[in-house]
Amino acid sequence: MTTAIAPANIAFIKYWGMRDAEQTLPYNGSLSMNLDACLTTTSVLFDPALESDHVTLTLYAQPPKVAVGRPLERVVAHLDRMRALAGVTTRARVTSSNNFPADAGIASSAAAFAALTLAGVSALGLAMDERTLSRLTRRSGSGSASRSIPTGYVEWHNGDDLTSFAESIAPPEYWDLADVVAVVDTQAKKIGSAENHHLAVTSPYFGVRLEGIQQRLDAARTAIMQRDLTLLGTTMEADAVSMHLVCMTQSPPSFYWNAGTMAVIHAVRAWREQGLEAYFTIDAGPNVHVICASGDRFIVQERLEALPEVQFTLVNRVGHGARLVHVND
Ligand code: PMV
Repeated sequence: MTTAIAPANIAFIKYWGMRDAEQTLPYNGSLSMNLDACLTTTSVLFDPALESDHVTLTLYAQPPKVAVGRPLERVVAHLDRMRALAGVTTRARVTSSNNFPADAGIASSAAAFAALTLAGVSALGLAMDERTLSRLTRRSGSGSASRSIPTGYVEWHNGDDLTSFAESIAPPEYWDLADVVAVVDTQAKKIGSAENHHLAVTSPYFGVRLEGIQQRLDAARTAIMQRDLTLLGTTMEADAVSMHLVCMTQSPPSFYWNAGTMAVIHAVRAWREQGLEAYFTIDAGPNVHVICASGDRFIVQERLEALPEVQFTLVNRVGHGARLVHVND
């Protein structure tokens, strides 16, 4: 049995829109930081006695559940990719657990597929460099999972199957930032990112988003290299708004933001006016990720928790990438 841990990640420049569903190729490069406190642990055991794959998911503070339907299909399809590479047909027992509330609306699929890929590949004894591992993780269908493989600050390149991989641009120690997640809604999102990745092209603003994306990607990378929070923050806010503008104008449209989302956005902007440097970004859900210098994370947490719309917060610093924790021969 092999066990791997992988982090969730938050994108400063978002992956939005899938150019090739078979290979999970994006329309644009993206850039993220790993979250040190939002982790998935996954164990994989290939067992010749099994007739089919068996997957058990344990979400934070919930009893274990046997996966069925679409979640099971996605795991089996990804195990099939790994089996094809290893030239075996052996079925697997997979157990996976999250250390963060599943209802926090954090993209847990990124952590889950990164951990599954690393554990599965090593259980099969496949030797793989990090680039190849991130490409294989990308093909799981959860493209952002490729960014949970390398450490720290990570860029996922646009390209073809060979060139679209994720790599670290700086380790966690390079710049001590924090992501304080403000949870304003614990309902599961009604429209998953998978469906909207296909609908993005129907928005008249999708082309506008892509026109500006290279400039934002370059600015965000430079901001990280120069530890420039003002440049990173203004760039990430512009990119998040651009992504959600595309959602709101696709057909049929999707609205991820709710009143709580807007309340946090306005609060963060007001705090900034008063000298607390913090910026927002939002994934495919209503909850808001507030990015600030790590030294400000507890004041940001305290202020967020004082807002009536915020149910709870999750405080993260920059995390390492996927790693093996236990290998039995
Ligand atoms: O990788 P997916 O299919 O779960 O899509 C991720 C989409 C966003 O989280 C909204 C953006 C991103 O780059 O992480």
